[in-house]
Amino acid sequence: MLACLRITSRNADETHAIGRLIGSNARPGDLFLLTGPLGAGKTCLTQGIAWGLGVKERPRSPTFVLLARYSGRLTIHHADLFRIEGAADALTLGLDDCLNDDDVCIVEWADRAPELFVEPSLRIEMDHHPNENDTRTITLQTDHSQYQPILNALAARERR
Ligand SMILES: Nc1ncnc2c1ncn2[C@@H]1O[C@H](COP(=O)(O)OP(=O)(O)OP(=O)(O)O)[C@@H](O)[C@H]1O
Ligand SMILES: [Mg+2]
Repeated sequence: MLACLRITSRNADETHAIGRLIGSNARPGDLFLLTGPLGAGKTCLTQGIAWGLGVKERPRSPTFVLLARYSGRLTIHHADLFRIEGAADALTLGLDDCLNDDDVCIVEWADRAPELFVEPSLRIEMDHHPNENDTRTITLQTDHSQYQPILNALAARERR
């Protein structure tokens, strides 16, 4: 199974709403691998996902902390690999402990250490288009049926 869905977001509120839908349909063990250039909206989407999982705080970019943990309906680990040199750095951070069957893991700049992520994941690529009213495209791709409820919910939102 290979599923792919591309969504356009016109502003940060819309990206938050898309994230909320992902979060409210997330399951234990879900791994969201976020990629895309600086300022594309990865942290914005992460906030929505966390809020959809019942987190009350506003997740920030863990650029200096690199790894943050939030509590909602599930435990959420939020990593930002922008500053790491390679997979060994991420392991030093303790990222491998976050990749378990119970928690949700959201990784910004996941392409900095792709070899770390062998578990079933939902890949989310964000891109921004300064020449098209600064819209964002959010492309979701997975080979794993555990993410079908998320894709179904997003597809239903697109059909509205
Ligand atoms: N459609 C949109 N979706 C998301 N963010 C948007 C959108 N339109 C404008 N923005 C703005 O773009 C910025 C996105 O910043 P954000 O920190 O989420 O990006 P990022 O991909 O996490 O960057 P970094 O690589 O530095 O971590 C925010 O200031 C947000 O308000
Ligand atoms: Mg960010």
